[in-house]
Amino acid sequence: MENQGRALNITLLQSPFAPKHLAGFTRLSGDVFGADASEEWLASLAWRLESMPDVTVFIAERDGAPVGFKAGYATALRRYYSWLGGVVPSARRQGIARALMREQHRWITASRFNHVECHVEQKNRAMIEANLKAGFVVAGFFLKDNKPYAIMQKEMPADPADYAGSREKIASRLVMFMPCFT
Ligand SMILES: CC(C)(COP(=O)(O)OP(=O)(O)OC[C@H]1O[C@@H](n2cnc3c(N)ncnc32)[C@H](O)[C@@H]1OP(=O)(O)O)[C@@H](O)C(=O)NCCC(=O)NCCS
Repeated sequence: MENQGRALNITLLQSPFAPKHLAGFTRLSGDVFGADASEEWLASLAWRLESMPDVTVFIAERDGAPVGFKAGYATALRRYYSWLGGVVPSARRQGIARALMREQHRWITASRFNHVECHVEQKNRAMIEANLKAGFVVAGFFLKDNKPYAIMQKEMPADPADYAGSREKIASRLVMFMPCFT
């Protein structure tokens, strides 16, 4: 059930980030990615928050506790990279990733950007499906650490109808771009 009827607060943090926000971001990333998050990787996250242009971090909170986030930054004057995000395991499948994406896309649309890109490991069906439903297309693939990643892109402004994408719509995109995924 969407958010289980409980209020979800989404707040936007922007650089410069206070030390408590950097620490909170690292902690929440650890909660979201669990065993997939090495200490080295977690320690590297703050660098992008402090170094990249136009960084945004949308944080979702329920009952005062962080349950998810979505972070991104600019890669060119009009291109935005949706870098990292996720939802803590206990709060998944309640529409939180969708709500975070909607807020991020609203911000992108209201800013100077006309394109958003996201890189997703090909086996991450949940994130690929969430992106396809939000109107992204698979524009290509690349290897990172020997793992295949999909390059997913979306032209902005977003069409509000995208966020209610049907399974038929995303299935047609998968067949076109990802024959090995279906
Ligand atoms: C991917 C992730 C962010 C989805 O978060 P979520 O809050 O559970 O997603 P939502 O409830 O908003 O779902 C939105 C859509 O995503 C898709 N989706 C979400 N979880 C899915 C799953 N387990 N399997 C297939 N599709 C899934 C569905 O299409 C869903 O739409 P629907 O509810 O109409 O079916 C979450 O699973 C997660 O944090 N995973 C670990 C971290 C990660 O992989 N981050 C992305 C890489 S940077």
